[in-house]
Amino acid sequence: MTKYDFDSSIDRRNSDSGKWTRYPDDILPLWVADMDFRCPPPVIDALHDRVEHAVFGYAGDPAELRAIFCAHLAEQYGWDVAPEAIVFLPGLVSGINVAARTVGAPGDGVLVCTPVYGPFLSSVDLQSRSLRNAPLAASANHHNGQDALYYEMDFAAIEQATTADTRLHILCNPHNPVGRAFNRRELETLAEHCLRHDLVICSDEIHCDLLLDGAQHIPIAALDPEIAARTITLMAPSKTYNLPGLGCSMAIIPDAELRKRFQRAAAGIVPHVNVLGLVAAQAAYSQCADWLEELQRYLTDNRNFTLQFVKQNMPALAITIPEATFLAWFDCRNAGILGNPYDFFLNNARVALNDGAWFGPGGKGFVRLNFGCPRATLAQALERMAEALSANR
Ligand SMILES: Cc1ncc(COP(=O)(O)O)c(C=O)c1O
Repeated sequence: MTKYDFDSSIDRRNSDSGKWTRYPDDILPLWVADMDFRCPPPVIDALHDRVEHAVFGYAGDPAELRAIFCAHLAEQYGWDVAPEAIVFLPGLVSGINVAARTVGAPGDGVLVCTPVYGPFLSSVDLQSRSLRNAPLAASANHHNGQDALYYEMDFAAIEQATTADTRLHILCNPHNPVGRAFNRRELETLAEHCLRHDLVICSDEIHCDLLLDGAQHIPIAALDPEIAARTITLMAPSKTYNLPGLGCSMAIIPDAELRKRFQRAAAGIVPHVNVLGLVAAQAAYSQCADWLEELQRYLTDNRNFTLQFVKQNMPALAITIPEATFLAWFDCRNAGILGNPYDFFLNNARVALNDGAWFGPGGKGFVRLNFGCPRATLAQALERMAEALSANR
């Protein structure tokens, strides 16, 4: 028996949803990374109570949320973080850009591993830094009788891309779009590389709770205090509890000097977090563990459903087996599609995915699908995609 309903479809077309209003009504949107589920009941209750109060002044320091979040980090990862190490932000993309401004000077190198979430790349440009790209290594992996795509960090490429003027590494863990929850060995090797080259790490861990099939998340800063001292870790309740429109996230910066520089780079530009975002975050981190467990099971089933469907009905597509996130990454290069697969599926299947090219080098010919939706919506989208592919033969 499940306590929460992830199966019912909620009409978001007449809401303020970017996901559901960008395309005409006959298009099924499985693109931008929010989910089509109601957020957990304790969050809704806490928001109701706060709205009833009816005064929405500036927020004070959220001391209780700091304490709750630190307890969460200790319990989940055995990571002891002092409450003052947390800097609240209205969004992770702000955090990435502030990190890029904080570290080094214009022209300095920023190491990234593509394909990766587009704003990693744009932050390098917007903050006048230089891109040092070490593409992830992709290989075919056989899993349950299915050829799957598997991505790993390529440490030879990382070494080569790290020039003398490289100051910052922006890490995505778990990784959007390839779905890896990087393991301890990979993270330790990366951490050792960053130490050796004196790189600051900005670790975007926004997807850290969306673990599938019992996967484990390891914050890179939790490996060792020496690594924590050079790391800006970005986390948020937004993906996990489906609250991205409420704009509350956290930068965890244990080193006081680095934190001061980060706060200075944000000052006067990045606004404070709004009171509703703080209230929602507190309820999410303190009262929603059972909801999250059910969500993880539902997303794991959606992932498995997608894998099975693709194997049976779209075998020309190669697909990742996400260990975390609600995002699947499809290699469409052998599917006989002329032109861009994003356009193909939009026009022929009436399904909106993300164009792989947005994720930088290594993304062309790929699409990303968001399976954070009721199973019936997912099934309908996949059926339409399979029909479009078979009509194309
Ligand atoms: C890896 C990653 N970082 C950041 C974000 C966006 O964060 P925010 O909405 O808090 O700016 C997303 C959203 O898809 C993401 O996947």
